[in-house]
Amino acid sequence: MSPKIDAARANFAALRTPLVCPVCGERLALSANSFRCPAGHCYDIAAKNYLNLAPRLKAPAVYDAALFAARRAVFAAGFYAPVAKALADRTAAHRQSLKRPINVLDAGCGEGYFAAAVLNALGQADCEVLALDLAKPGLTLAAKAAPGLKCLLADLTRLPVPDASLDIILNMLSPANYREFRRALRPGGLLLKVAPGPDYLREVRQAFALPPGEASEAESLLATACGAYETAAFTYTRPVNETMRAAFLAMSPLASHHAAAAPEFAAVTIDLRLYAARF
Ligand SMILES: C[S@@+](CC[C@H](N)C(=O)[O-])C[C@H]1O[C@@H](n2cnc3c(N)ncnc32)[C@H](O)[C@@H]1O
Ligand SMILES: [Zn+2]
Repeated sequence: MSPKIDAARANFAALRTPLVCPVCGERLALSANSFRCPAGHCYDIAAKNYLNLAPRLKAPAVYDAALFAARRAVFAAGFYAPVAKALADRTAAHRQSLKRPINVLDAGCGEGYFAAAVLNALGQADCEVLALDLAKPGLTLAAKAAPGLKCLLADLTRLPVPDASLDIILNMLSPANYREFRRALRPGGLLLKVAPGPDYLREVRQAFALPPGEASEAESLLATACGAYETAAFTYTRPVNETMRAAFLAMSPLASHHAAAAPEFAAVTIDLRLYAARF
Protein backbone atom coordinates (compact mmCIF):
# COMPACT_ATOMS: atom_id res chain seq x y z
CA MET A 1 0.00 0.00 0.00
CA SER A 2 1.17 3.54 -0.70
CA PRO A 3 1.81 5.91 2.20
CA LYS A 4 -0.72 8.33 0.63
CA ILE A 5 -3.64 5.89 0.75
CA ASP A 6 -2.62 4.87 4.28
CA ALA A 7 -2.74 8.51 5.38
CA ALA A 8 -6.09 9.04 3.66
CA ARG A 9 -7.50 5.89 5.28
CA ALA A 10 -6.30 7.03 8.71
CA ASN A 11 -7.98 10.39 8.15
CA PHE A 12 -11.35 8.70 7.43
CA ALA A 13 -10.91 6.09 10.17
CA ALA A 14 -10.98 9.03 12.61
CA LEU A 15 -14.34 10.27 11.27
CA ARG A 16 -16.82 10.87 14.11
CA THR A 17 -19.88 11.83 12.04
CA PRO A 18 -21.74 8.74 10.78
CA LEU A 19 -22.13 8.42 7.00
CA VAL A 20 -25.03 6.87 5.11
CA CYS A 21 -25.15 5.31 1.65
CA PRO A 22 -26.31 7.83 -0.98
CA VAL A 23 -28.11 5.00 -2.82
CA CYS A 24 -30.04 3.17 -0.06
CA GLY A 25 -29.63 5.39 3.02
CA GLU A 26 -28.16 2.60 5.19
CA ARG A 27 -25.15 3.25 7.46
CA LEU A 28 -21.70 3.01 5.88
CA ALA A 29 -18.85 1.22 7.61
CA LEU A 30 -15.14 1.45 6.87
CA SER A 31 -13.73 -1.71 5.30
CA ALA A 32 -10.15 -1.73 3.96
CA ASN A 33 -9.89 1.48 1.84
CA SER A 34 -13.63 1.79 1.21
CA PHE A 35 -16.90 2.53 2.95
CA ARG A 36 -19.61 -0.12 2.43
CA CYS A 37 -23.30 -0.39 3.28
CA PRO A 38 -25.09 -3.67 4.22
CA ALA A 39 -26.55 -3.84 0.68
CA GLY A 40 -23.02 -3.97 -0.78
CA HIS A 41 -22.74 -0.44 -2.23
CA CYS A 42 -19.08 0.47 -2.01
CA TYR A 43 -17.31 3.86 -2.04
CA ASP A 44 -13.55 4.22 -2.29
CA ILE A 45 -11.21 6.49 -0.37
CA ALA A 46 -8.94 8.17 -2.93
CA ALA A 47 -5.21 8.44 -2.33
CA LYS A 48 -5.76 12.18 -2.81
CA ASN A 49 -7.54 12.13 0.56
CA TYR A 50 -11.24 12.31 -0.31
CA LEU A 51 -14.09 9.79 -0.18
CA ASN A 52 -15.83 9.24 -3.51
CA LEU A 53 -19.55 8.95 -2.72
CA ALA A 54 -20.62 9.96 -6.23
CA PRO A 55 -18.73 7.72 -8.65
CA ARG A 56 -21.34 8.30 -11.37
CA LEU A 57 -22.18 12.00 -10.89
CA LYS A 58 -20.35 15.00 -12.37
CA ALA A 59 -20.35 18.69 -11.46
CA PRO A 60 -21.13 21.20 -14.23
CA ALA A 61 -18.11 21.54 -16.57
CA VAL A 62 -17.60 25.23 -15.69
CA TYR A 63 -16.25 24.12 -12.30
CA ASP A 64 -12.84 23.19 -13.67
CA ALA A 65 -9.28 23.28 -12.34
CA ALA A 66 -8.61 26.80 -13.67
CA LEU A 67 -11.66 28.21 -11.83
CA PHE A 68 -10.64 26.64 -8.50
CA ALA A 69 -6.97 27.71 -8.90
CA ALA A 70 -8.18 31.27 -9.45
CA ARG A 71 -10.47 31.10 -6.39
CA ARG A 72 -7.58 29.81 -4.31
CA ALA A 73 -5.37 32.73 -5.41
CA VAL A 74 -8.07 35.27 -4.55
CA PHE A 75 -8.75 33.66 -1.15
CA ALA A 76 -5.01 33.46 -0.37
CA ALA A 77 -4.75 37.21 -1.02
CA GLY A 78 -7.28 37.82 1.79
CA PHE A 79 -10.18 39.27 -0.19
CA TYR A 80 -12.72 37.09 1.68
CA ALA A 81 -10.96 37.05 5.07
CA PRO A 82 -13.65 39.10 6.91
CA VAL A 83 -16.28 36.55 5.86
CA ALA A 84 -14.11 33.60 6.91
CA LYS A 85 -13.52 35.28 10.28
CA ALA A 86 -17.26 35.79 10.80
CA LEU A 87 -17.92 32.12 10.01
CA ALA A 88 -15.25 31.00 12.46
CA ASP A 89 -16.64 33.32 15.17
CA ARG A 90 -20.21 32.08 14.72
CA THR A 91 -19.06 28.45 14.71
CA ALA A 92 -17.01 29.00 17.87
CA ALA A 93 -20.02 30.62 19.58
CA HIS A 94 -22.21 27.63 18.67
CA ARG A 95 -19.61 25.22 20.04
CA GLN A 96 -19.41 27.32 23.21
CA SER A 97 -23.18 27.24 23.72
CA LEU A 98 -23.39 23.45 23.21
CA LYS A 99 -20.44 22.73 25.56
CA ARG A 100 -19.34 19.74 23.49
CA PRO A 101 -17.40 19.17 20.25
CA ILE A 102 -19.47 19.94 17.15
CA ASN A 103 -19.57 18.91 13.51
CA VAL A 104 -19.85 21.19 10.48
CA LEU A 105 -20.60 20.27 6.86
CA ASP A 106 -19.67 22.69 4.07
CA ALA A 107 -22.18 21.98 1.28
CA GLY A 108 -20.47 23.04 -1.98
CA CYS A 109 -17.01 23.61 -0.47
CA GLY A 110 -15.12 24.17 -3.74
CA GLU A 111 -11.39 24.30 -3.04
CA GLY A 112 -12.02 24.35 0.69
CA TYR A 113 -11.07 27.86 1.84
CA PHE A 114 -14.02 28.42 4.19
CA ALA A 115 -14.09 24.84 5.53
CA ALA A 116 -10.36 25.03 6.29
CA ALA A 117 -10.74 28.45 7.95
CA VAL A 118 -13.37 27.08 10.35
CA LEU A 119 -11.39 23.91 11.10
CA ASN A 120 -8.15 25.82 11.69
CA ALA A 121 -9.89 28.33 13.96
CA LEU A 122 -11.60 25.74 16.19
CA GLY A 123 -9.21 22.78 16.00
CA GLN A 124 -9.99 19.13 15.31
CA ALA A 125 -10.76 18.24 18.93
CA ASP A 126 -13.58 20.79 19.12
CA CYS A 127 -14.87 20.64 15.58
CA GLU A 128 -15.07 18.02 12.84
CA VAL A 129 -15.43 19.58 9.38
CA LEU A 130 -16.83 17.69 6.40
CA ALA A 131 -16.14 19.45 3.09
CA LEU A 132 -18.53 18.28 0.37
CA ASP A 133 -18.57 19.05 -3.33
CA LEU A 134 -19.33 17.33 -6.61
CA ALA A 135 -16.41 18.91 -8.50
CA LYS A 136 -13.27 16.76 -8.34
CA PRO A 137 -10.85 19.57 -9.33
CA GLY A 138 -12.05 21.59 -6.33
CA LEU A 139 -12.18 18.72 -3.90
CA THR A 140 -8.64 17.54 -4.64
CA LEU A 141 -7.45 21.02 -3.62
CA ALA A 142 -9.73 21.01 -0.55
CA ALA A 143 -8.23 17.68 0.52
CA LYS A 144 -4.92 19.50 1.07
CA ALA A 145 -6.40 22.68 2.56
CA ALA A 146 -6.19 21.72 6.24
CA PRO A 147 -5.04 18.62 8.14
CA GLY A 148 -8.00 16.54 9.29
CA LEU A 149 -10.52 17.97 6.84
CA LYS A 150 -12.90 15.19 5.71
CA CYS A 151 -13.53 15.73 1.99
CA LEU A 152 -16.55 14.06 0.40
CA LEU A 153 -17.23 13.91 -3.33
CA ALA A 154 -21.02 13.94 -3.08
CA ASP A 155 -24.24 15.67 -4.07
CA LEU A 156 -25.48 18.38 -1.71
CA THR A 157 -29.09 17.59 -2.61
CA ARG A 158 -28.61 14.14 -1.00
CA LEU A 159 -26.26 14.60 1.94
CA PRO A 160 -24.58 11.32 2.98
CA VAL A 161 -25.37 11.77 6.68
CA PRO A 162 -28.24 10.52 8.89
CA ASP A 163 -31.23 12.68 9.84
CA ALA A 164 -30.50 15.21 12.61
CA SER A 165 -26.76 14.52 12.67
CA LEU A 166 -25.13 17.92 11.94
CA ASP A 167 -24.64 20.96 14.18
CA ILE A 168 -23.83 23.46 11.39
CA ILE A 169 -24.14 23.53 7.62
CA LEU A 170 -22.09 26.07 5.65
CA ASN A 171 -23.37 26.94 2.19
CA MET A 172 -21.03 29.44 0.57
CA LEU A 173 -21.89 30.92 -2.83
CA SER A 174 -23.29 27.51 -3.79
CA PRO A 175 -26.71 26.06 -4.59
CA ALA A 176 -28.84 25.23 -1.55
CA ASN A 177 -31.35 22.49 -0.82
CA TYR A 178 -33.20 23.68 2.28
CA ARG A 179 -35.32 20.56 2.68
CA GLU A 180 -32.19 18.43 2.74
CA PHE A 181 -30.42 20.86 5.10
CA ARG A 182 -33.39 20.67 7.48
CA ARG A 183 -33.30 16.87 7.41
CA ALA A 184 -29.57 16.69 8.16
CA LEU A 185 -29.37 19.40 10.85
CA ARG A 186 -30.03 18.59 14.50
CA PRO A 187 -32.93 20.47 16.09
CA GLY A 188 -31.51 23.92 16.90
CA GLY A 189 -28.80 23.41 14.25
CA LEU A 190 -27.43 26.39 12.36
CA LEU A 191 -27.28 27.13 8.64
CA LEU A 192 -24.62 29.71 7.72
CA LYS A 193 -25.25 30.70 4.12
CA VAL A 194 -23.36 33.29 2.09
CA ALA A 195 -24.93 34.70 -1.08
CA PRO A 196 -23.98 37.64 -3.34
CA GLY A 197 -25.39 41.11 -2.78
CA PRO A 198 -26.32 43.27 -5.79
CA ASP A 199 -22.82 44.85 -6.09
CA TYR A 200 -20.86 41.60 -5.80
CA LEU A 201 -17.94 41.62 -8.31
CA ARG A 202 -19.45 44.69 -9.98
CA GLU A 203 -16.26 45.41 -11.94
CA VAL A 204 -16.04 41.82 -13.24
CA ARG A 205 -19.66 41.90 -14.38
CA GLN A 206 -18.91 45.14 -16.20
CA ALA A 207 -15.87 43.55 -17.88
CA PHE A 208 -18.16 40.83 -19.27
CA ALA A 209 -20.80 43.44 -20.15
CA LEU A 210 -23.27 41.64 -17.89
CA PRO A 211 -26.19 43.44 -16.23
CA PRO A 212 -25.84 44.34 -12.52
CA GLY A 213 -26.33 41.43 -10.09
CA GLU A 214 -29.90 40.63 -9.17
CA ALA A 215 -31.02 40.43 -5.57
CA SER A 216 -30.30 36.88 -4.40
CA GLU A 217 -33.30 34.61 -4.08
CA ALA A 218 -31.73 33.29 -0.86
CA GLU A 219 -33.81 35.62 1.32
CA SER A 220 -37.24 34.56 0.12
CA LEU A 221 -36.25 30.89 0.06
CA LEU A 222 -34.79 31.13 3.58
CA ALA A 223 -37.88 32.90 4.89
CA THR A 224 -40.02 30.05 3.57
CA ALA A 225 -37.63 27.35 4.80
CA CYS A 226 -37.08 28.52 8.35
CA GLY A 227 -38.84 31.80 9.15
CA ALA A 228 -36.44 33.89 11.20
CA TYR A 229 -32.79 34.44 10.30
CA GLU A 230 -30.09 37.05 10.95
CA THR A 231 -28.23 38.86 8.18
CA ALA A 232 -24.80 40.49 8.12
CA ALA A 233 -23.47 42.45 5.13
CA PHE A 234 -19.84 42.47 3.97
CA THR A 235 -19.36 45.24 1.43
CA TYR A 236 -15.97 46.70 0.49
CA THR A 237 -13.92 47.65 -2.56
CA ARG A 238 -10.23 46.71 -2.71
CA PRO A 239 -7.54 47.56 -5.27
CA VAL A 240 -6.30 44.74 -7.53
CA ASN A 241 -3.02 44.32 -9.43
CA GLU A 242 -2.78 42.58 -12.79
CA THR A 243 -2.38 39.09 -11.30
CA MET A 244 -5.44 39.52 -9.06
CA ARG A 245 -7.44 41.05 -11.91
CA ALA A 246 -6.81 37.89 -13.96
CA ALA A 247 -7.73 35.70 -10.98
CA PHE A 248 -11.02 37.58 -10.40
CA LEU A 249 -11.86 37.21 -14.09
CA ALA A 250 -11.32 33.45 -13.91
CA MET A 251 -12.78 32.64 -10.48
CA SER A 252 -16.48 32.45 -11.22
CA PRO A 253 -18.77 30.78 -13.73
CA LEU A 254 -19.13 34.34 -15.11
CA ALA A 255 -15.79 33.53 -16.80
CA SER A 256 -17.61 31.26 -19.23
CA HIS A 257 -18.70 34.56 -20.87
CA HIS A 258 -16.23 36.44 -23.04
CA ALA A 259 -14.84 39.78 -21.95
CA ALA A 260 -16.35 42.59 -24.02
CA ALA A 261 -12.97 44.36 -24.17
CA ALA A 262 -9.60 44.08 -22.46
CA PRO A 263 -10.71 44.47 -18.83
CA GLU A 264 -9.01 47.42 -17.15
CA PHE A 265 -10.56 47.56 -13.70
CA ALA A 266 -8.24 48.59 -10.85
CA ALA A 267 -10.45 47.52 -7.93
CA VAL A 268 -12.98 44.83 -7.09
CA THR A 269 -16.11 45.12 -4.98
CA ILE A 270 -17.02 42.35 -2.58
CA ASP A 271 -20.69 42.55 -1.56
CA LEU A 272 -21.86 39.49 0.34
CA ARG A 273 -24.67 38.62 2.75
CA LEU A 274 -24.16 36.13 5.55
CA TYR A 275 -27.44 34.54 6.66
CA ALA A 276 -27.52 32.71 9.98
CA ALA A 277 -30.66 30.58 10.26
CA ARG A 278 -31.70 28.22 13.07
CA PHE A 279 -33.52 25.08 12.02
C1 LIG B 1 -19.22 29.20 -6.96
S1 LIG B 1 -18.62 27.65 -6.37
C2 LIG B 1 -18.34 28.02 -4.64
C3 LIG B 1 -17.37 27.10 -4.01
C4 LIG B 1 -16.90 27.47 -2.59
N1 LIG B 1 -17.95 27.45 -1.62
C5 LIG B 1 -16.28 28.86 -2.62
O1 LIG B 1 -16.86 29.80 -2.07
O2 LIG B 1 -15.22 28.99 -3.22
C6 LIG B 1 -20.08 26.62 -6.32
C7 LIG B 1 -19.75 25.20 -5.94
O3 LIG B 1 -20.96 24.43 -5.81
C8 LIG B 1 -20.68 23.12 -6.25
N2 LIG B 1 -21.94 22.42 -6.55
C9 LIG B 1 -22.89 22.80 -7.43
N3 LIG B 1 -23.91 21.89 -7.41
C10 LIG B 1 -23.58 20.94 -6.49
C11 LIG B 1 -24.21 19.74 -6.00
N4 LIG B 1 -25.41 19.36 -6.45
N5 LIG B 1 -23.59 19.02 -5.07
C12 LIG B 1 -22.37 19.39 -4.60
N6 LIG B 1 -21.72 20.52 -5.01
C13 LIG B 1 -22.31 21.28 -5.94
C14 LIG B 1 -19.78 23.31 -7.45
O4 LIG B 1 -19.09 22.15 -7.80
C15 LIG B 1 -18.89 24.46 -6.96
O5 LIG B 1 -17.73 23.97 -6.32
ZN1 LIG C 1 -26.38 1.20 -0.03
